[in-house]
Amino acid sequence: MKVTVSVIKADVGSIGGHIVPSSALIETVRNFVAREKNKTIIDSYVSSTGDDIAILMTHDRGVEDEKVHKLAWNAFIEGTGMAKKQGLYGAGQDLLKDAFSGNIRGMGPAVAEMEFEERPNEPFLIYAADKTDPGAYNLPLYLSFADPMHCSGLILSPKMSKGFRFDVMDVEYTEADRVISLNVPDELYDLAALLRDNERFVIEGIYSRDTGDQAAAVSTTRLRNIAGKYTGKDDPIALVRVQGAFPAAGEMTSPYQIGHYVAGFMRGSHTGPLMPVGINTSVTFFDGPPLVSCLAFCVHEGILTEPADIFSHPFWNYVRDRVSRKAIELRQQGFSGIAMLPYSELEYGGIVEKLDTLEKRFVVRKAATAKRQEKSPSRKPVSPRVAVTASR
Ligand code: F6R
Ligand code: MG
Ligand code: MG
Repeated sequence: MKVTVSVIKADVGSIGGHIVPSSALIETVRNFVAREKNKTIIDSYVSSTGDDIAILMTHDRGVEDEKVHKLAWNAFIEGTGMAKKQGLYGAGQDLLKDAFSGNIRGMGPAVAEMEFEERPNEPFLIYAADKTDPGAYNLPLYLSFADPMHCSGLILSPKMSKGFRFDVMDVEYTEADRVISLNVPDELYDLAALLRDNERFVIEGIYSRDTGDQAAAVSTTRLRNIAGKYTGKDDPIALVRVQGAFPAAGEMTSPYQIGHYVAGFMRGSHTGPLMPVGINTSVTFFDGPPLVSCLAFCVHEGILTEPADIFSHPFWNYVRDRVSRKAIELRQQGFSGIAMLPYSELEYGGIVEKLDTLEKRFVVRKAATAKRQEKSPSRKPVSPRVAVTASR
């Protein structure tokens, strides 16, 4: 049968700051969704990662379905009611529009969906990340789908020898979806050149070049682009079909041992290593470190198995220790250099006002400039801003 898997995730309130949703809030969302089983949807699973709640749903209505999106929206509205009742922090934080308008995309919650013909056995993974943005998946997806150092199937499996097509979105472009398709291995270096910039170019989908089937879907929401100001980091989700013509589950988890540095962490404005964690893990150190959970399922005729919680395995304890060390090392330098994100990515408006005020206080020392010109008259004076750019 043709099944659609939809994962929709949002932060609608949490305990003690942006830490973890209350059990009452999760139960409210879970019960709301469960009431729609055998009506709008076939099956569902609700979990949390950091301060976000992810609703996984299976159905036969295709992607971008109004009824399914509205169901998730209403579940989050109901959850917000409970969050308000309990006085949770940031109640309704990611619901950026007043009323549902046909599609939950562009309204705040993160969405990843795929419709496909079910294989006789259909395993897939969902990744949920908190305190970071969609570009956090760029490197691990690249390594799992395009690098034999992590995906031995690219060498060993004839089903994968043709490689994959990556659809990459320019998330800085806000007027419409601006997307490029690149085939690997042929255009590997072009892909790397784009994926280098996690804040602008984000993998949206990956397709097998052998079968044409979709292997991965990633949420590409940038909350800042919707709200025009900081309303929380984008906390992305990803959906990946595994095994057979796709990477094995283990090839999909392999790159997460790196604990690569991503944007996010405290106030969405820092750099921190991505820590693989079990589901329902809270946030603790400097509003981080950025987290990612991974649940594995099988689906048959739309019915889900129970999940396997991939990063709860003891192997990942060692990785978490290393990632903690990486986080602490970078935190030693506080706001300096790469520890804090570049100006364009700072999520709080306060610093813009601060720098505007300071900008007006800068003075150009005319006398000194004139003296320098006297010494070397052929050199044109350069503005301080140009000089800084040139020296980088
Ligand atoms: C990051 C995040 C937190 C908050 C921080 C301050 O995505 O959610 O780091 O930015 O706790 O929160 P506010 O501004 O709500 O007091
Ligand atoms: Mg939050
Ligand atoms: Mg969050």
